[in-house]
Amino acid sequence: MKKPDVYLTRKLPEEAMELLQAECNLEVNPYDRALSRGELEEAIQGIDGLLCLLTDTIDEELLSLNPDLKVVANYAVGYDNIDIEACTGRGIPVSNTPGVLTETTADLAFALLMATARRIVEADSFTKAGAYEGWGPMMFLGGDIYGKSLGIIGLGRIGQAVARRAVRGFDMEVFYYDRNRNEEMEKEYGLKYLDFEDIVKTADFISVHVPLTKETEKLFGEKEFKMMKKSSYLINTARGAVIDEKALLQALRDGEIAGAGLDVFEDEPKLTPGLWKQENIVMLPHIGSASIATRTKMAKMAAENLIAGLKGEEMPNLINPDFADA
Ligand code: DGY
Repeated sequence: MKKPDVYLTRKLPEEAMELLQAECNLEVNPYDRALSRGELEEAIQGIDGLLCLLTDTIDEELLSLNPDLKVVANYAVGYDNIDIEACTGRGIPVSNTPGVLTETTADLAFALLMATARRIVEADSFTKAGAYEGWGPMMFLGGDIYGKSLGIIGLGRIGQAVARRAVRGFDMEVFYYDRNRNEEMEKEYGLKYLDFEDIVKTADFISVHVPLTKETEKLFGEKEFKMMKKSSYLINTARGAVIDEKALLQALRDGEIAGAGLDVFEDEPKLTPGLWKQENIVMLPHIGSASIATRTKMAKMAAENLIAGLKGEEMPNLINPDFADA
């Protein structure tokens, strides 16, 4: 039987490449960069399956170029890059990579929180530049973490993993806001459920863990920054567009908040001009899940999902079970 034709939009860790090569006629993006829209439009034509990244926009216009596309597997837990409704309407099952990146991303969120509050990146650059000429009582003063309060916006898997680190490791008082109450986490870790606004007004640190949807787009804007305490910090390892970056820049300039740590950006890889000039921000290039082991697990998971879908089996991490009704 002829193997299905699959396009992979970026080379992945070897274990996943081997899985895909064994089961499919595999074509891989030859460049060490994301595909341009034109290249993606060409790549999608004539294939049975697409293994794509969060940098690829999979919308109705793109899907219309290949009415025979059977499966889409995303190499990410977030899937705001894919028009799920359009895929469902065309009978295309879509999968993501949940679970395997939870702890790695929570580690990064906490590292970013600590780096931001304790000005680690600034202090590192200062030391490496040879500027350290002696200990000083006022050098690189930052905010405390231990015993402070943390507001978690979105208590999904990653939000919960951050909460556990905060409570068990740093004796923090943890508030959370989510569409759903989590009484188990409340009981076991002493988490307190608060309204979004109450968290914004009171938390010393706010860490964002919501998916990007119409409801969460620009959840943090001018109004929220004005409500936050001048001593508080905002950390985002979810999706950039949850924060209005221009408003954040203004808040950082005006001292409305003490600092921000961002692993994700509104229109990445583009950055809002001026943001990088601020000393009170730490910026990372979307590396939340970037450990060797986790990226390998994600790649295998995406490959296994794709292969199952192409065989007509249920994809283990199917997002849109109603695809079959189309
Ligand atoms: C995801 O999976 O959604 C992350 O942003 C990248 O690992």
